[in-house]
Amino acid sequence: MTQDELKTLVGRAALQYVQAGSIVGVGTGSTVDKFIDALGDALKTQPGLITGAVSSSVRSTERLQALGIQVLPSDTVTGLGVYIDGADEIDHQGNMVKGGGAALTREKIVADLAERFVCIADESKLVKVLGAFPLPVEVIPMASAQVIRAFAKIGGSGKVREGVTTDNGNVIVDVTGLQITDPAQFESDINQWPGVVTVGVFARNKASVCLLGTSEGVKTLGF
Ligand code: 5RP
Repeated sequence: MTQDELKTLVGRAALQYVQAGSIVGVGTGSTVDKFIDALGDALKTQPGLITGAVSSSVRSTERLQALGIQVLPSDTVTGLGVYIDGADEIDHQGNMVKGGGAALTREKIVADLAERFVCIADESKLVKVLGAFPLPVEVIPMASAQVIRAFAKIGGSGKVREGVTTDNGNVIVDVTGLQITDPAQFESDINQWPGVVTVGVFARNKASVCLLGTSEGVKTLGF
């Protein structure tokens, strides 16, 4: 199976986690696009499947609205049963690196509203230690050089992602050369740095479940 087919597989499989009549939290990325497509198909035969969605990006909002799904502002919702999103890397404990699509801050906000984070990913995303994928960090523009220098001190090489402004008006610094052996501590340390809006390590808001697309089908990993 191609990577695209694996994404379709897990996008469809995520439907089983959507509670009938609920508001669903929706992430961002090519795998989530498959979930949104599957949701759109399901709504044709089950119009009451969801009552609306909370979205983590302008991109996903537009896709949801194009299907006639009501998108609610996250600050009007007090809680969500489930948040469904992809990942750039996920380890065997459910910690993730996210932000390849530059939506990490809103993803963390919506994930934090939800009781369960269902990660949908193809098998290439499963790693032993986070860090091979360049770590995205959302940074207030005036702090970008300072943040890059701070990463250099801990062995990381950072670069501002060219041509990208986040939905919040900030830049993304991508950092290579890190091995993130203690994701929870790392997340909490980097989030203290002046100018860092969000680091793309999701340890505090890690996955509850990962639906992993493999050539043998969907594997469900529980954390
Ligand atoms: C966007 C993300 C995505 O979930 C992550 O980049 C995975 O994307 P894809 O499903 O396209 O591989 O964090 O900010």
